[in-house]
Amino acid sequence: HTKIFNINPENFSDVIEECAEIICRGGTVAIPTETVYGLSANALDPVAVNGIFHAKGRPADNPLIVHVASVQQLDKLVLEIPAKALSLMEAFWPGPLTLILKRTCIVPDITTGGLDTVAVRMPADIVAQELIRVSGKPLAAPSANTSGRPSPTTAAHVLHDLEGRIDAVIDAGNTCIGVESTVIDMSGKKPAILRPGYIPASRIEEIIGEVEIGYNDNVTETEGVIRSPGMKYTHYAPNATVLLLEGAHDLVQDKIREMYTDFTCRGARVGLLVTNAGLLSLTNDMFYLGSKDEPEEVARNLFLGLRALDERRVNIILADGSFTHEGVGAAVMNRLRKASEMIIRL
Ligand code: TXA
Ligand code: MG
Repeated sequence: HTKIFNINPENFSDVIEECAEIICRGGTVAIPTETVYGLSANALDPVAVNGIFHAKGRPADNPLIVHVASVQQLDKLVLEIPAKALSLMEAFWPGPLTLILKRTCIVPDITTGGLDTVAVRMPADIVAQELIRVSGKPLAAPSANTSGRPSPTTAAHVLHDLEGRIDAVIDAGNTCIGVESTVIDMSGKKPAILRPGYIPASRIEEIIGEVEIGYNDNVTETEGVIRSPGMKYTHYAPNATVLLLEGAHDLVQDKIREMYTDFTCRGARVGLLVTNAGLLSLTNDMFYLGSKDEPEEVARNLFLGLRALDERRVNIILADGSFTHEGVGAAVMNRLRKASEMIIRL
């Protein structure tokens, strides 16, 4: 049985108090963060962390992000904070940036998938911050979805995947960013971005200079070294088959119309995930992501759209990849490519 807390200013401290108790007992609580909902548990309690892996069906070698509310809390978890890592924390914390650092022995193996590093982040969301502060525990929290599914941006998404499998969820409405944090490896010689996220590489380079791009968006290419265990698993995928169309905006719109007609004639139920409201004339099984020039809007709606089309039981989703790839657009593109069965480049 999963307890559902609708948090508001009146019940805020009671809800935090009750959830902190669940955390201290070794339970799991799904919490809002500014990016997506996370499934949290005491990062230093192996049994509690095991509850996260079990609820999500997450592979044991895929490590978790540990969320902290203060630098004192961080000091216990990591061996050292290199100067560049400190600069990034000063620039972007609290916020959607996760740093990989060398860990101390108090962080259990299960939390880090046996690695000698730990991923850490200070979330900006007040609910997450208060739960960390009141429980007094650093919180391990991956996205609160079943492993492989689109990340949750509402409490309803969390319950859809995990109801009955977790102790509680705190419902604070839609998350404001909609895609996950940027993950940067600061444990080696050269900083490397392992997952694009809300904070683009360009803003990071303004603070610490050149960074490596350590991830690969290309779903068909599997060679190369896997630096982040999460890279090798299916991600963000709805039940429907996603076909992603990339290229100039006008070409993509024409191709979507053509493919929609083809697949529909052959008896498929086709959903559209698009940045052109004009396509509404084709079908009601359409989700408008936002304007192609507003990547923040597209980011906020992406996982919502993938899940909404799944609810309509479409077989195929034609996804428009022709929005701007500037800023958070790079992260949106990364998620869409990973969710896709095939990329069609026009
Ligand atoms: O915005 C976010 O980051 C959300 C919210 C809840 O904070 N969390 C999130 O966690 O997206 P998760 O578990 O879904 O993704 C964490 C990613 C995975 O790709 C994982 O492989 C990588 O970070 N990661 C974690 N620890 C790592 C480590 N020590 N070395 C390399 N990669 C690591
Ligand atoms: Mg995830």
